[in-house]
Amino acid sequence: MEGKLKQIQKEALLALELVNDEKTLEKWQVKYLGRSSELMDVFKGLATLSKEEKPHIGRTANLVKVALESASEKKENLLNQRRIHESLEGEQIDVTLPGRRTISGSLHPTTQTLREIYRIFGDMGFQIYRSQEVETDQFNFQLLNFPPHHPARDMQDTFFLTSDEDRGDDPVLLRTHTSPGQIHAMQEHTKKYSEDPPPIRIILPGMCYRYEQITARSEIQFNQVEGLAVGKEITFGDLKGTLSNFARRMFGQDAKTRFRASHFPFTEPSAEMDVSCFLCGGDGCPVCKGTGWLEILGCGMVHPTVLKNGGFNPEIYSGFAFGMGSERITMMRHHIEDIRYFWANDLRFLDQF
Ligand code: PHE
Repeated sequence: MEGKLKQIQKEALLALELVNDEKTLEKWQVKYLGRSSELMDVFKGLATLSKEEKPHIGRTANLVKVALESASEKKENLLNQRRIHESLEGEQIDVTLPGRRTISGSLHPTTQTLREIYRIFGDMGFQIYRSQEVETDQFNFQLLNFPPHHPARDMQDTFFLTSDEDRGDDPVLLRTHTSPGQIHAMQEHTKKYSEDPPPIRIILPGMCYRYEQITARSEIQFNQVEGLAVGKEITFGDLKGTLSNFARRMFGQDAKTRFRASHFPFTEPSAEMDVSCFLCGGDGCPVCKGTGWLEILGCGMVHPTVLKNGGFNPEIYSGFAFGMGSERITMMRHHIEDIRYFWANDLRFLDQF
């Protein structure tokens, strides 16, 4: 019996050496370790053996079983490793292939323009002052020298948040321009420094609203950037120098500027600044409607009444202010023909910036 076991072990191990793939290994396992293998027959026959033989044969059969199992396991590991190795060899990664591009977003074109404006005025020493979008009639109009029923109000109708019954002459409304921020900034400043306030140099960006027919040229909401400088001996020359410098940095070193007399209730004198058309360089083209100039912003010397409303003595202090629409400037920079694109949320438009 012992000889038979040795024979089984020898034969099995020999056969295992020839096994070269998982399927044959499985067959081998069935044949030599399976339920109806010769080895198992020996185990089954143990009961018929004599008392003396049983322990010895049982132990030997066990040793054979353990030897076969461990040899089979070794083989299985070997085959596994070989398979992994082959798949690594066969499926090599080409690291020189171009990668998949991730889709990256971009800032809204108006945001890009606003940031450029902040940077330019920041270089000139202007700080950013944030002011609210919801205002009262007082701040949006009256303190800026638009009395009730002043004809200049016609150009800036807006959305009212309260009715006449609620607040009489001082309804709450959505601001039509960033200019009311001038009053807030000046009042805050002169309250803080009641004696001899230091100069103010700020820009006030933000959303404005007007009750408009929406067309290619006008929207009911848009961004403005207001500017305000107040101090002693500030002149119209300072205004021209500051804004011409801005225009050159925004539109290129060759940009020329001109100032046309205009009217705003809160500045005196008032002007509008034009920049030479960047497309035709001033010769006249469809973009500038043949004039060679593009209107960029309104400006002027702060009206004495407005200085007073802000807490400054107009006998001692003077200042200049300006206001520009950032969507309009963006339209000029990128030749955008319709202001409605800015709020349409159309990715085909936004992806271009
Ligand atoms: N607030 C004016 C407007 O919206 C622009 C402006 C600002 C003009 C400051 C002069 C000074 O049209």
